[in-house]
Amino acid sequence: MSDDIISYSSEKQGIVTKATLPMDQEPEIISLRPERLCDYIGQAEVLETLEIAIKAAKQRGEALDHVLFHGPPGLGKTTLAHIIANEMGTKLVVTSGPALEKGGDLIGMLTHLETGDVMFVDEIHRTPKAVEELLYPAMEDFSIDFIFDKGIHARSHRFQLKQFTLVGATTRVGLLSAPLRDRFGIFRSLDFYNTFDLEKIVRRSAALLNLPIDNDGAMELARRSRGTPRIVNRLLKRVRDYSQVRAHGRITKKTVEEALALEGVDDMGITPLDRRYLKTVINFYNGGPVGIEAVAATLQEETDTLVDVVEPFLLKTGLIIRTSTGRKASDSAYDHLGLSRKSS
Ligand SMILES: Nc1ncnc2c1ncn2[C@@H]1O[C@H](COP(=O)(O)OP(=O)(O)O)[C@@H](O)[C@H]1O
Ligand SMILES: [Mg+2]
Repeated sequence: MSDDIISYSSEKQGIVTKATLPMDQEPEIISLRPERLCDYIGQAEVLETLEIAIKAAKQRGEALDHVLFHGPPGLGKTTLAHIIANEMGTKLVVTSGPALEKGGDLIGMLTHLETGDVMFVDEIHRTPKAVEELLYPAMEDFSIDFIFDKGIHARSHRFQLKQFTLVGATTRVGLLSAPLRDRFGIFRSLDFYNTFDLEKIVRRSAALLNLPIDNDGAMELARRSRGTPRIVNRLLKRVRDYSQVRAHGRITKKTVEEALALEGVDDMGITPLDRRYLKTVINFYNGGPVGIEAVAATLQEETDTLVDVVEPFLLKTGLIIRTSTGRKASDSAYDHLGLSRKSS
């Protein structure tokens, strides 16, 4: 089986990544994705907004307003785009900002949309500027302007599109231009999930995968998953392997603890990359404040990875603090790592 490759890549890249790993693509993992609003756990306010908007749009027989989701990776943005199309009973077309290199690609996609169809643009903040400008009239008036020829012979032709819904997802709403942001009728930020909701997700996934898990086991996994459903599912898979080989398949608090110790995930869900980040700030930069570029250079990681993937949870849990002069390790970071503060 391809299991070797899968576990190898997850080991190499760690549990916390921005990218979708092969293990997330496995048929069974894909089926873990909720398909309807009623299967989606947590994010109650976002769900309520969508439920009302979808119902109203369907009653009027119109397309849903354009929707923008913002939040760290793995919280369910892509899942919600799928759910919207399922609930509307329309087609979903998936692309991403970086994939839209040429305007022609976008025009091709837009002209094939039927009324009510959903176009999902992941990482929409990385859409090239020239392509983004095509989106403005497409979103606002459902039309696009083709330009023929150049210079004094230039002519433009307006092409009418069907009323479609653009669903955008971004990890960095600050990088989105104001004109683009303003063209979304619905804008919602997804926040990290609480342990209660994550526990429900653990149970749901375990049930779908037919895994016996006890209450304490589910609770422990939920606590260690960095508030992120994608990480819940990844860790559940690692724990499944461990329990199968070492504990007759039953998932308990003990097997979760042992399996996650092997992954380097501690009792707060802090991963090896998080620890390297914190130790760099503390040991190398004397606790900060330090600029993110300096931390990235020392760690030999991309700044984007640190900002999008690592920092949101460290900020949320208060292990790091962002100040105007850079990042600082908090007292709880020292405590959590068992390090003592040096006086400088
Ligand atoms: N609310 C939820 N309830 C249950 N599972 C979820 C939920 N949100 C996300 N997931 C799971 O987490 C995985 C990652 O979600 P995804 O939508 O790909 O995140 P994002 O696009 O925000 O990075 C999905 O495959 C799905 O299985
Ligand atoms: Mg996604």
